[in-house]
Amino acid sequence: MADFLSEADFELYRKLIYDESGIHFSETNRSILESRLRERLRDKKLGTLQEYYATLLKDKEELKLLLDSVTTNLTRFFRNQAHFDAIEHFVVPELIKLKQGSAEKKLRLWSAGCSTGEEPYTVAMLLKEILPPGWTFEIVASDISLKSLMVGKEGFYNENRIQGIPEDYLVKYFEKKGTGYQVKDDIKKLIRFDYHNLKNDSGQRGLDVVFCRNVLIYFDEAAQKATIDRFYDAMSGHSFLFIGHSESLFGMNTRFEFVKTEWACFYKKQTS
Ligand SMILES: C[S@@+](CC[C@H](N)C(=O)[O-])C[C@H]1O[C@@H](n2cnc3c(N)ncnc32)[C@H](O)[C@@H]1O
Repeated sequence: MADFLSEADFELYRKLIYDESGIHFSETNRSILESRLRERLRDKKLGTLQEYYATLLKDKEELKLLLDSVTTNLTRFFRNQAHFDAIEHFVVPELIKLKQGSAEKKLRLWSAGCSTGEEPYTVAMLLKEILPPGWTFEIVASDISLKSLMVGKEGFYNENRIQGIPEDYLVKYFEKKGTGYQVKDDIKKLIRFDYHNLKNDSGQRGLDVVFCRNVLIYFDEAAQKATIDRFYDAMSGHSFLFIGHSESLFGMNTRFEFVKTEWACFYKKQTS
C-alpha cells in the first residue's frame, strides 16, 4: 500500500495540478491526493499512475475530472454574515451613490469559486432585498468543479443545507419540494453559472464586486498573486473584493486598498 504514490509520482502529479489550477498540495495533504488518484484509476479501470498520467496528457476532459476531484467544495448560505452586513451597509450604498448619475443602474458581481451556489444565491437574495427600485444586478458564478456547478445550476438544496437562511427569505425565494428546497426562477435567472479556471483571465471587465472567499487558501503565494492581479483587471475603477475570513493579502504586493469597516474587512480598487 505504502508505495502507491511514490515520491516521483507525487511530484509529477502535484506539479500538473498546480500548473493547471494553482491548487497546491503540500506534504500534509498528500494522502488526499493519493485517495483521489486511487478513485480516478478505479473509475478509468487503469492499473498504474503512469498510465493515468499519459491519459491526462491527451484527455482534457479527464484532466477536468481530476481537478474537480481534488477540490474542496465546502460552503453554506450566509457564510460569514459580516461580509453580507458590509455589503448591505457599506458597499451597496457606496456603489449606488457613485453610479447615481449614470444611465445604467446596474451592479455587476462575480462569485469566483462559487462551489455549489450557496454564495451567489445568498448575494442574489440580499440584493433583491436591499436594492432601491429601478436598480438591477447580474451575478456570474464560476468554479472549476463541474459537479458543484451542476448543483448550483439546479438550485435544489436538501433540508440539512439550508441552515443560515432567514425564515422570510426561505418563504420568499424557495419552494419546498420533497426533502428540500428549490430556488425560485426569479432568483435563478439573476445568476449565470459558468465553468472557469481561475488560472486564466475570465475576460470580464467593469465588475463592481468580486467574491473569492475560501479559494485562495488552496493556492500557493504565486498563484494567489496572479489571481488577485487578474481580479484587479476585471474590476471597475471603484469596486470591492471580498476574500475569506482566514485569507489575507497582507504582505502581497497588490494594488488593492485594505478597508476596515465596523462590519467586516475587505479590499477596494480605486482608480477613479
Ligand atoms: C471551499 S469552496 C468555497 C466556496 C465559497 N466561495 C465559500 O466561501 O463558501 C472553494 C471552491 O474553489 C474552487 N476552486 C479551487 N481552485 C479553483 C480554480 N483554479 N478555479 C476555479 N475555482 C477553483 C473549488 O472547486 C471550490 O468549489
